[in-house]
Amino acid sequence: MATTPRQLHLNLFIHGRGHHEAAWRHPSASPLPLTDIRYYTGLARKAEAGLFDSVFLADTLAAGDDIARAPRTWLEPVTTLAALAGVTSRIGLVATCSTTYTEPFNLARQFGSLDHITGGRVGWNIVTTWLATASSNFGNQGPLDHAVRYERAEEYMRVVTGLWDSWSDDAVLDDRAAGQYARDGSIRPVHHTGPHYQVAGPLNQPRGPQGRPVFVQAGSSDTGRRFAARHAEAVFTAQMEKATARDFYTDLKALAVEAERAPEHILILPGLSPVIGSTEAEAQRLARELNDLTDPEVGRKRLSGRFGGHDFSHLKLDEPLTPADFPDPGTVEAARSRTEVIIGLVRREKPTLRQLLGYLAGARGHFVTAGTPEQIADLIEDWFHDGAADGFNLMPPVLPAMLDVFIAEVVPLLQRRGLFRTEYAGETLRAHYGLPRPDLRFERVTADER
Ligand SMILES: Cc1cc2nc3c(=O)[nH]c(=O)nc-3n(C[C@H](O)[C@H](O)[C@H](O)COP(=O)(O)O)c2cc1C
Repeated sequence: MATTPRQLHLNLFIHGRGHHEAAWRHPSASPLPLTDIRYYTGLARKAEAGLFDSVFLADTLAAGDDIARAPRTWLEPVTTLAALAGVTSRIGLVATCSTTYTEPFNLARQFGSLDHITGGRVGWNIVTTWLATASSNFGNQGPLDHAVRYERAEEYMRVVTGLWDSWSDDAVLDDRAAGQYARDGSIRPVHHTGPHYQVAGPLNQPRGPQGRPVFVQAGSSDTGRRFAARHAEAVFTAQMEKATARDFYTDLKALAVEAERAPEHILILPGLSPVIGSTEAEAQRLARELNDLTDPEVGRKRLSGRFGGHDFSHLKLDEPLTPADFPDPGTVEAARSRTEVIIGLVRREKPTLRQLLGYLAGARGHFVTAGTPEQIADLIEDWFHDGAADGFNLMPPVLPAMLDVFIAEVVPLLQRRGLFRTEYAGETLRAHYGLPRPDLRFERVTADER
């Protein structure tokens, strides 16, 4: 029997007016306000026309202290995703929601609803919320430690999975003549009582087309990887070079096997932020244009946020940095794995603070490159075939301009090389990602249990 060759997965990460910190000011960025839903629907439609697997919306739960000089994606992801559902029909839609600051019953309902609303196209980016200032908007108990956040998230997964599995697939009879809406014994409570959550269940909603949303995750620390190995079906990761991306890929696939999962059921999608020009010189010119628009003080504040509020104000912009200028990543309770990426770069390249901030302005520590469509397609093919990626989380530096170029110029090259689909084969996000429908962990309840 002929086997289908392995193909790339592409996810569009929508962020501000593009991933470059200064994209919002660039002349080729969208003229629409960042609160205008047409901006997001337009991008989702373009990504669908480009046959992407999915689009993704991130989320932060606090405003940030650089608002006056740097906008963010202001619309809340779950509600935005519902709007995107109405104007698309095939592309997967992934929204971020926090395990630390959302009750599991609310989250299970919202994503269960979205799975019905989208006809099985929804994914959930499981985050524990690294941003320290978020806690001040949710009871002000102080930010939770990295380890505690992941420990709570582990229990959280048991609760929400139980809720999504609380209805059997065939529970709804809707038998109007007989007056029987649901099959007897097909809906069961959850009865979860754990250290952090008490949830009786069942969910007040029939099981969605995908069984449950696709689980996406983006933790890359040691704890984050183990969590991903147990739960994630797609993993976003920030890698600054192919060598570290390969190590991450090899390690996570091995951890998935240890967790008794098929390695092909956990897709690894590193971030890629390509500045594309018709010649290399044009791409470099565009990259310079963007960098000239950056504001180092915005960068300094964002760097501080990644390190949980650490003060970098004494560092001179034009003096070379050393790892000693940063806290030990093992002590960072915020975005731990990103701090490891940043210190790794400092150790390797000894940049000045201005140079480091310039690099992070590109895409916050994800892989940034500038080149022609052929060069970008070559790079994608190389990472894909060399054990570094199952696909990419595309982070266009400027939106929509750099997405347009990618779809018009890079996607056809990937298709011609047999690396990317030429039409959608399936209807659901699970189908696009090549994932199985999850088994229902459900036993019919007896009359005594009811
Ligand atoms: C592509 C990508 C997107 C992310 N999106 C979010 C997000 O929307 N909200 C959030 O709180 N964290 C987000 N994160 C952060 C991770 O979920 C995680 O909290 C962070 O990497 C720290 O955990 P770690 O030390 O295990 O990596 C994202 C990370 C990556 C790589």
